Amino acid sequence: MAQCDRTTFALGGDLPVHRMGFGALRLTGPGYWGPPEDRAAALEIARLAVDLGVSFIDTADSYGLGASEEVLAEALRPYRDGLVIATKAGQCRPRPEQWVPLGRPEYLRQQAELSLRRLGLDRIDLFQLHRIDPKVPAAEQFGALKELQDEGKIRHIGLSKVTVEELEQAREQITVASVQNLYNLTDRHNDEVVDYCEKHAIAFVAWLPIARGELAAEGSPVTAVATELGVSTSQVALAWLLHRSPTVIPIPGTSSPVHLKENFAASDIVFSDDQLARLDALG
Ligand SMILES: NC(=O)c1ccc[n+]([C@@H]2O[C@H](COP(=O)([O-])OP(=O)(O)OC[C@H]3O[C@@H](n4cnc5c(N)ncnc54)[C@H](OP(=O)(O)O)[C@@H]3O)[C@@H](O)[C@H]2O)c1
Repeated sequence: MAQCDRTTFALGGDLPVHRMGFGALRLTGPGYWGPPEDRAAALEIARLAVDLGVSFIDTADSYGLGASEEVLAEALRPYRDGLVIATKAGQCRPRPEQWVPLGRPEYLRQQAELSLRRLGLDRIDLFQLHRIDPKVPAAEQFGALKELQDEGKIRHIGLSKVTVEELEQAREQITVASVQNLYNLTDRHNDEVVDYCEKHAIAFVAWLPIARGELAAEGSPVTAVATELGVSTSQVALAWLLHRSPTVIPIPGTSSPVHLKENFAASDIVFSDDQLARLDALG
């Protein structure tokens, strides 16, 4: 098994990734619906992420209705060794503003096939159930993922927006390599899930790590610590997630090359005990 350290996490025990990931939701058109208006800029962002050292990129079939996966494939193929593109299925988009859980096993299978095709892969390294669909028995949804894994179409299975109870139920049927839940400095309602993941060597992929930009905005609660360290507020928010637990993988999203460089560089920040205590207290 590969070693986990400050900057690396061994996903599923066998895929070491840099813990500062990248979220590819924003490589799409307005409202995350369709392709990006500036395709060249989106391609540049994807390439820059990998050039900087990002080795974990999160996307989904529903991001731009496939457009995010298409941009990643166009920008990054042939894929660099060690690059993990994690995708998701289980939410459909009947209209731009709607995200509706859809976990029927035949739909999950179809979406995995479409993601394989769009990404140009023989196997998806991490396939995440975007939502557990309350209209479909959970065991059928997990069963569809297990079937895809047994057939070699996906390597590891992840879940998204789950409680500890749901996670425990899922683990009776499948091996869960990752959980993707909302988590950041000021929204800690998933603390219990982070601790559970750490205990069981499951990656905790933190979405909205900068609270949709709020933690980077003027008046951010981390301004004092950022000033002390001479770094930006977004960097403090991201570095705190890396300090929170060795299992946390933040996936900040950006359409700005400057922000992307800044975010990745946050991996090097080390807090004093006092700074860490003050940041911990913001939760
Ligand atoms: N599983 C799920 O249900 C779920 C739900 C939502 C999101 N996600 C995942 O989480 C990822 C991240 O979510 P997100 O992009 O919505 O939220 P986020 O990473 O918390 O915030 C992104 C926002 O912060 C700004 N930003 C990023 N870096 C910055 C910097 N250094 N300085 C100032 N502003 C900065 C971005 O604007 P700029 O473009 O100007 O940088 C953007 O407005 C998504 O890409 C997706 O992969 C998953």
